[in-house]
Amino acid sequence: MKKDLLKMEDLSKDEILDILNLADQLKYELKHNIKHNLLDGKTLGMIFEKASTRTRVSFEAGMYQLGGYPLFLSSNDLQIGRGEPIEDTARVLSRYINGIMIRTFEQGEVEALAKCSSIPIINGLTDDEHPCQVLADLMTIRENKNILDGLKVAYIGDGNNMAQSLLVGCLQVGMNISLAIPNNYMIKEDYINKGNEISKANNLKFEIVDDPKKAVIYADVVITDVWASMGKEDEAKERIKAFNGYQVNAELMTLAKEDAIVLHCLPAHREEEITAEILEKHADTIFEEAENRLHVQKAILVKLINN
Ligand code: CP
Ligand code: NVA
Repeated sequence: MKKDLLKMEDLSKDEILDILNLADQLKYELKHNIKHNLLDGKTLGMIFEKASTRTRVSFEAGMYQLGGYPLFLSSNDLQIGRGEPIEDTARVLSRYINGIMIRTFEQGEVEALAKCSSIPIINGLTDDEHPCQVLADLMTIRENKNILDGLKVAYIGDGNNMAQSLLVGCLQVGMNISLAIPNNYMIKEDYINKGNEISKANNLKFEIVDDPKKAVIYADVVITDVWASMGKEDEAKERIKAFNGYQVNAELMTLAKEDAIVLHCLPAHREEEITAEILEKHADTIFEEAENRLHVQKAILVKLINN
């Protein structure tokens, strides 16, 4: 049976670790000029209904490096943009290509695509989830800390797609997570329930607090994301007011462990969710995190398309 990556919860701890291990190997091979034509002759369709730099370029380059062919499909040019149902698009594309990566608004659209297609579907970001980014974050954390089990992650900011995928991903691999999110921008209740469930089953700490200081204390990893995600641009001004105090800055970082790393999925809004000072201080890790999108997505593609 085909496997999709629609949300972080679709992957067990073992499956996540398998992807990270393969990503490490592919990264090593790329750096040492060892060819890995694991997807020779395969085609990936990439549907974009929102803008992207990292996701588009890393999937496109990654597919090429694997010996396959990436097909960029802007929703403006597809018949989806003129009202053709996603279900029909799924049935047609399944007959031409070997996998689809989709970036869109509604999680339901990705689920509908998966339901009606016979090829693997990869979520390249929806309003609810960003699993590829979280896998790259986990890879980056493991590269820096050598382990994942038992670490403390702090997430500061909007209860958005990153927050929701992160909490599931971190707990799945055995990390504790503390999220500081303003009440009016909370993650969905479903995700709070999932967090409680996974943390209970694995004896981990999962908490949502309103004070960023409480979240960051003794953290090994501090993560933030933009306050106004794609599709919320018209709320940007009011969000700047609402998120006052939720900035990752030098003062907040004094509470984290001395060797704490900072991650940001990018693009970043300097002096909003993160200061330029902290972003630059942690630029090596943050840009490695961006690079790791390439390696981790190649691993996802191999695991799903070569299944
Ligand atoms: N982090 C991320 O997904 O970046 P893009 O929006 O540029 O793809
Ligand atoms: N939360 C952000 C992530 C961008 C990669 C957004 O959805 O716009």
